[in-house]
Amino acid sequence: MALIAITRERRSGETRVAAVPETVKKLIAQGFSVTVEAGAGTAAAYPDADYAAAGATVATTLQETLGAADIVFKVRAPEVEEIKALKPGALVCATLNPYMERPALDALAAQGATGFAMEFVPRITRAQVMDVLSSQANLAGYRAVIEAAEAFGKAMPMMMTAAGTIAAAKVFVMGVGVAGLQAIATARRLGAVVTATDVRPDTKEQVESLGAKFLAVEDEEFKNAQTAGGYAKEMSAEYQAKQTELVSSHIAKQDIVITTALIPGRPAPKLVSAAHVASMKPGSVLVDLAIEQGGNVAGGRLGEIVTTDNGVLIAGIANLPGRIATDASALYARNLMAFAGLFLDKEGAFAPDYSDEILEAALVCRAGAVVHPQLKV
Ligand code: NAI
Repeated sequence: MALIAITRERRSGETRVAAVPETVKKLIAQGFSVTVEAGAGTAAAYPDADYAAAGATVATTLQETLGAADIVFKVRAPEVEEIKALKPGALVCATLNPYMERPALDALAAQGATGFAMEFVPRITRAQVMDVLSSQANLAGYRAVIEAAEAFGKAMPMMMTAAGTIAAAKVFVMGVGVAGLQAIATARRLGAVVTATDVRPDTKEQVESLGAKFLAVEDEEFKNAQTAGGYAKEMSAEYQAKQTELVSSHIAKQDIVITTALIPGRPAPKLVSAAHVASMKPGSVLVDLAIEQGGNVAGGRLGEIVTTDNGVLIAGIANLPGRIATDASALYARNLMAFAGLFLDKEGAFAPDYSDEILEAALVCRAGAVVHPQLKV
């Protein structure tokens, strides 16, 4: 039966791991065998001994881990040393980030590997359990509020004490996809007064159902801002100007702003201008979840917490799911386990069906070539 390998993530700051003892046990029950590189789960609090107890072989070298593997599970795109150690034809499942990490994709293809980019798994009902974008964005949205609360010098809930009353913090969430909805729910649980905005009309009801107030330019363009795939369109300059004006009067009164706005395949929209930031009170905090795609907030910097001249903090934290690595790994590992189920036929034998629409959509390279239609040059 097919052998699955899990390596230790080599990317700086990557604390997650692509399999956890629970999924290892289930994969073995499905008939796979599993090898885990020593230390792979340490940063996410999964010790080697737990993988061994779940039935995995714990290997000490990369060669030993990957040399015989038919399938490799990873969080990030493999590094050069990992690609070189792959068996020809090995199936590699990872968030390959193929648009931004093209050299890794080309190297994978050159090695003869079969690459699956997990972020390309279509958002159809059958694939929900494999949706790594959702599983990780949900935790990122939660963690963004925790980071904001940590950096904020005031309390989140209203408190009535003998020494006086503390006002509830005002939190504004911009972009209400998976991450934004969880940010709203988390801020509400902490007792903040929450408002939120998005360009997709569907989000209004979702925001209100979480007990937050919806705020948006609700014109004709807004009514048509959602694509058939459920994503946002890039808005016109005219709409953006109206949005900027609406945000201007609101943002100056906010304590915490969480931005999550993304448009697939495009740079993140600029939603918070330098003038907006300048209008905010000292001690206010912005957390920009879109920072890795260029950012929603003017003046934000990837991997840094910037303090502006007026004492506002702009947190451009990279890899928020990595700051909640135990849960992020557990959910990601379940996503991959479900995906690996597609490699088995009805009798449980290892026989990937490349005509399956999920495998087809996620397949990026095979037999020496980059094959995804959007990635062919
Ligand atoms: P995303 O990460 O692509 O974008 C985040 C949010 O930013 C979106 O809500 C988007 O509308 C918003 N945005 C974009 N431009 C904006 C602007 N100029 N101003 C304000 N907001 C802006 O989105 P995510 O989280 O991936 O979700 C996208 C859609 O996919 C949603 O409709 C979600 O419900 C849906 N979805 C469906 C799933 C399924 O059916 N299996 C699973 C997960 C999400």
